[in-house]
Amino acid sequence: MSYEYILTETRENVGLITLNRPDALNALSDGLMDEVGQALTSFEQDDAIGAVVITGSEKAFAAGADIKGMKDRSYMDMYLGNFIGRNWEQVTRCRKPVIAAVAGYALGGGCELAMMCDFILAADNARFGQPEIKLGIIPGAGGTQRLTRFVGKSKAMEMCLTGRMMDAQEAERAGLVSRIIPSADLLEEAVKTAGEIAAMSRPSVFMAKTAVNKAYETTLAEGVAAERIMFQSLFATEDQKEGMSAFSEKRTADFKNR
Ligand code: CAA
Repeated sequence: MSYEYILTETRENVGLITLNRPDALNALSDGLMDEVGQALTSFEQDDAIGAVVITGSEKAFAAGADIKGMKDRSYMDMYLGNFIGRNWEQVTRCRKPVIAAVAGYALGGGCELAMMCDFILAADNARFGQPEIKLGIIPGAGGTQRLTRFVGKSKAMEMCLTGRMMDAQEAERAGLVSRIIPSADLLEEAVKTAGEIAAMSRPSVFMAKTAVNKAYETTLAEGVAAERIMFQSLFATEDQKEGMSAFSEKRTADFKNR
């Protein structure tokens, strides 16, 4: 399938989505986000793919929702058209792990898109921010909620109220990104990491993702109970037998996703 605003490819067991509106610093237009949703759905349906990487360019992961496309919209355009709600959430519904490989600007919706992914690998030149306040609006794709959960109230509040950007080092210290990687190596490292995940037993990958996400949606007791049920249920898989046998026999496990 060919797209207008993104590029897609597969690298062995990894699906790669590259945001591709270089003239607009990958501003996230409706059309672009529709295509991201379609690409994710198609990787989701492809059994050969075990994880997905979303990336942008060296200058910008994405500089936010498309300001020029939003400028003249009315409240009813936004509300009845279910702006953001109608296509962005597909990222959070993907069962396969999605890694954001962020270089350059991840601002507004760009920061929010990265935070919808399962984790963020940041290039050393990455800059994160929620500058919507400077446009007379607020974040609309979860920025006030997810950023606060990642970095705490004080930093999230300051960023949402002033539009100040965080560099990669600050983002790593604050827990927004899992690791910083030299810019030139970012994509290769992200694809390698996604490939390692894709080679794990898929049911355990799905359950690990579900269980970690529970920590954001439930009480501690409910989350631990859900984790316990999933942990115990994985003993019904052939891959658990294979994984533990391989350890005992000092060889690499060959998971069959069964
Ligand atoms: N929407 C539309 N176009 C954008 C854009 C955006 N979010 N960000 C950048 N562009 C365009 C610019 O208009 C410019 O286009 P032209 O060449 O046609 O003028 C091109 O991309 C290059 O941008 P700059 O010339 O501004 O590049 P720069 O290096 O001087 O500055 C920047 C880079 C600091 C990222 C600056 O572009 C900027 O501040 N962008 C807007 C960031 C922003 O406010 N994001 C939030 C958007 S609202 C949102 O995301 C809502 C939500 O929560 C979902």
